[in-house]
Amino acid sequence: MRVTVALEGFHAVKHALRFAPDLVRQVTVTDLAAALALADELAPDLHDLLAGRAVEGRVDHPTGVAGAADQPAEERFVLRARSTPLVLLDDPKHPGNAGAAIRVAAAAGASGVAFTGGLDPWHPAVVRGSAGLHYALPVLRCDASELTGPVWALDAEGDALGEVPDDVVLAVGSERSGLSAEVRRVATRTVSLPMRPGVSSLNLATALSAALYAWRLRT
Ligand SMILES: C[S@@+](CC[C@H](N)C(=O)[O-])C[C@H]1O[C@@H](n2cnc3c(N)ncnc32)[C@H](O)[C@@H]1O
Repeated sequence: MRVTVALEGFHAVKHALRFAPDLVRQVTVTDLAAALALADELAPDLHDLLAGRAVEGRVDHPTGVAGAADQPAEERFVLRARSTPLVLLDDPKHPGNAGAAIRVAAAAGASGVAFTGGLDPWHPAVVRGSAGLHYALPVLRCDASELTGPVWALDAEGDALGEVPDDVVLAVGSERSGLSAEVRRVATRTVSLPMRPGVSSLNLATALSAALYAWRLRT
């Protein structure tokens, strides 16, 4: 069954067109000349694609650009094998945090983002938070028991991070309750990011960002 994803705004449309043009079904713009001027300024590589795909119509977004795309088939192989870190969001509750996590995962070059728990990874507010970068890497649901390879659980009480392996799963916990018992059970290490005394925790996307970039920037 085909599931349609709303692309709200220029950046979401831009990322879907750039990373998965074949999945984009519709691009609507309030004013084609204005949309192309925006593309020339922010994404000149997409000028011709936008010119060929956009149709003028009503758009409820300040950028005057919106679209719709198919949700891709789940790429579950990343749960078993990968050459860059896989992110595990362990029962995230806040769509904005999940979207921000997908955004940094895409930017850092992660192999995918897997979700446990009840939040739909493709909820419109998650796609809004990722600026459409769902289309840049596999995004899927999983069960913690499906993970293979090193699983590093991020926790403020964990050991020092050290060198992050390429094939690691980096698991971050839920906003209020932290890591689930299932993820703690499959974790091969529990690692922390140092914080100044008095600070109890980082936002989950911020913690993930620090760990991913520790991997990305390592010498
Ligand atoms: C807002 S925190 C959760 C706080 C929660 N009260 C708890 O007991 O863990 C969300 C997630 O961010 C990650 N995190 C936050 N601060 C961290 C730190 N200093 N080191 C490693 N991970 C951290 C953890 O994965 C944590 O589960």
